[in-house]
Amino acid sequence: MKLFHTFSHAILALFIAGITTACGGGSEPSAIESSTKQESLEKGQSGGSEIPSEIKSLLSKNTCLGCHKMDKKLIGPSFLAIAKRGYTDKELVQLIKEPVPENWSDYPPMAPMAWVEDKQLEAMAVWIASLPKE
Ligand code: HEC
Repeated sequence: MKLFHTFSHAILALFIAGITTACGGGSEPSAIESSTKQESLEKGQSGGSEIPSEIKSLLSKNTCLGCHKMDKKLIGPSFLAIAKRGYTDKELVQLIKEPVPENWSDYPPMAPMAWVEDKQLEAMAVWIASLPKE
């Protein structure tokens, strides 16, 4: 019984030590978080074929990914190929709402996507315009 008592105290002490460390090291978790953020920013800038998750969910929800991929031709041109045309985000919003099939003569015409919410169109357009152009 005595042994058990000592043992449970030891556990209690460890537990308290654990809590103090968690609180005391308050700056550590945010340091880790910001380095992860930095990493994903760098990935975006280096033009890797990764689509940021919030953009990916918009593209998938609005069926864009059924026809467009980041770096390969599918039904439509890749997002990287579109970015190389150097459109501004405003031009892109307009082209998604009212495609100009003559811009891509090797492809079937894209259906107008004017039903997509403006805010979502803008977010996707800003992202496409931010992709590397060479
Ligand atoms: C059914 C297939 C299909 C879907 C779905 C689709 N696209 Fe397209 N998209 C195409 C094709 C094909 C082209 C090339 C021919 C054209 O522009 O009409 C194209 C062209 C584009 C262009 C280039 C416009 C230009 O004139 O240079 C952009 C930007 C674009 N799509 C964005 C999107 C976005 C964003 C979505 C989702 C909201 C989307 N597309 C959904 C097939 C599709």
